[in-house]
Amino acid sequence: MARITSGISFQLGDRSVNRMGYGAMQLAGPGVFGPPKDRAMALAVLREAVASGVNHIDTSDFYGPHTVNQLIREALHPYPRDLTIVTKVGAMRGADASWNPAQSPADLTRAVHDNLRNLGIDTLDVVNLRIMGAVHAPTEAPITEQFAALAKLQQQGLIRHLGLSNATSSQVAEARKIANVVCVQNHYNLAHRDDDALIEELSRSGIAYVPFFPLGGFSPLQSNTLSRVAKALGATPMQVALAWLLARAPNILLIPGTSSVNHLRENLAASDLALSDEVMRQLNAIGGPA
Ligand SMILES: NC(=O)c1ccc[n+]([C@@H]2O[C@H](COP(=O)([O-])OP(=O)(O)OC[C@H]3O[C@@H](n4cnc5c(N)ncnc54)[C@H](OP(=O)(O)O)[C@@H]3O)[C@@H](O)[C@H]2O)c1
Repeated sequence: MARITSGISFQLGDRSVNRMGYGAMQLAGPGVFGPPKDRAMALAVLREAVASGVNHIDTSDFYGPHTVNQLIREALHPYPRDLTIVTKVGAMRGADASWNPAQSPADLTRAVHDNLRNLGIDTLDVVNLRIMGAVHAPTEAPITEQFAALAKLQQQGLIRHLGLSNATSSQVAEARKIANVVCVQNHYNLAHRDDDALIEELSRSGIAYVPFFPLGGFSPLQSNTLSRVAKALGATPMQVALAWLLARAPNILLIPGTSSVNHLRENLAASDLALSDEVMRQLNAIGGPA
């Protein structure tokens, strides 16, 4: 088993995490709904991630729903002291697997308690408010009521740190008037670069930027340039896509998702892949100027 060796860490409030983490969403069944297709493999992926040095796992109680948090608990509880589990609230699943906004203070409070119960802990390390404007694109709308509800739960000791997901720059500013924001989790990868400016802005404030769909999500990234660069480096395209993100900005934390131990190993090894300035220039051209 390979360990993450070049694990430069980043502070999420008082929690120090390796920049190479793991996103648990792919452990649920098809459509992020129901039980995993291979339960033993799901548990093995979680255990190997932590044994390999991953100390930042991204999850939500709406993955499954409940299933993914219950798998994390079964695989890893009692949790290592250095493990930071980041969850998100703000949606609930319909019986038809739909994703529905659940943003009232009562909804958010229920979701925090669901996460605590299914993860088997008394305090959540980090909770992101998942803003539900458009599904994968931030849209402007006030978030004060929702974020204030989470800040109240933080004051009650149920949450250590707060973050945002699917957020605009002005929503980050709005939230920071209410409570400290340690991370922002938005859609971003080599080919989807809408947040270039937001990443720099957050970096100046010491806030982590955590791209979701770092490998392209449900349709993994495909690019001739990416394949050519990967071949020349003796790496895989997915490894190059992750190494590009690590090189892109120091406040980027990775949570690539996989339901496969082999893909997990491949992804973690990307933290050892160095990219030259010339390679970065070629990769930057895939999605526009960085
Ligand atoms: N805040 C939000 O709204 C939001 C939205 C989406 C996701 N997330 C979080 O972000 C994490 C990452 O996003 P994601 O999992 O959706 O997408 P992703 O990491 O971009 O890609 C996952 C997909 O890539 C495949 N894959 C992974 N490693 C691979 C490899 N080495 N080679 C080939 N294929 C590979 C996976 O299939 P296999 O399972 O077969 O490996 C899966 O289909 C999630 O797990 C979740 O925690 C958050």
